[in-house]
Amino acid sequence: MIVPTRTLFEHAYGKYALGAYNINNLEQTMGLFRGCIDSQAPFIIQISKGARAYTDKHMLEAIIRTAGDIFPESLFAVHIDHGDEQTCYDAISSGFYSSVMIDASHESFEENVAITKRVVEAAHAKGISVEAELGMLGGVEEDIKVDEKNSCLTDPEEAHAFVHASGCDSLACAIGTSHGAYKFAGGQGIHFDRVAAIQAQLPGVPLVMHGSSSVPQDEVARINAAGGALKEGAKGVDPAQYLPAAKLGVCKVNIDTDGRLVWTRVLREYFKENPGEFDLRPPGKIFMAEYAKFIASRNVLLGSAGNLASAREHALSKH
Ligand code: G3H
Ligand code: 13P
Ligand code: ZN
Repeated sequence: MIVPTRTLFEHAYGKYALGAYNINNLEQTMGLFRGCIDSQAPFIIQISKGARAYTDKHMLEAIIRTAGDIFPESLFAVHIDHGDEQTCYDAISSGFYSSVMIDASHESFEENVAITKRVVEAAHAKGISVEAELGMLGGVEEDIKVDEKNSCLTDPEEAHAFVHASGCDSLACAIGTSHGAYKFAGGQGIHFDRVAAIQAQLPGVPLVMHGSSSVPQDEVARINAAGGALKEGAKGVDPAQYLPAAKLGVCKVNIDTDGRLVWTRVLREYFKENPGEFDLRPPGKIFMAEYAKFIASRNVLLGSAGNLASAREHALSKH
């Protein structure tokens, strides 16, 4: 069942985080639903602009709808990941999405507020919630000073001003993570002091952590043993930190890269071991099963596992 993102956040806030998983195709979708049912977890499916362009936005929407029918027990929200203004308006008018992210974090504070505010007005008119971003994710390099590193992080007072001026429903914050497989060149992890300071300024406002993949080292080793060339510094977030972050108001944890690593490992190993094969289904089947296992393991670490029944009860009480 597709539910509003805010309904899932209400249930999770301060207790656990929802995994927000990116999908691009039906194999990822099937693995995601299977993993969430196996772990009895509510979840968020997110679609980036690139994912919508990979086949066609309608293809992905149809795949999601159908997966919801195949797994009638599932409880999830559908979200636009890193949307620009036009993509947000398109998603809002389609009536299919639970929430959108407007990513104007590269703009000035004032411009970010103005753009976010326009999207919020359009989204709220249709009951859709909006995630916005403040701060600079990534770009935190090993050779820059701590002061400079911290200046890339979201400023708690600015976060307060931003949320109140823009009217956004949740806030993606820069708290030390970055996108992709090469995080933490400087060896640091999540800045918990910064998360706590942002929560103190914005009590009750759901926070979002982008760049949350853990880049499992055994996955990296298997990919490289099967012909891959991932570099030495491939490193991610310690997944044992998801739950402590959730207790500080981080309700949504974005994971995409880790799913790509599962896919890369499965396909590389399969074709290395079966060089004469050219049927796409056997590795596709292995991927769906492996991805389901990965998703279930993440939901356990996020604390969302086991929350399906009570989250459904909460969602039904809202309708
Ligand atoms: O943060 C970005 C997500 O990992 C989506 O990536 O834009 O390549 O689909 P993408
Ligand atoms: P990862 O690259 O760490 O998986 O982050 C994904 C993300 O933030 C999607 O918005
Ligand atoms: Zn992101």
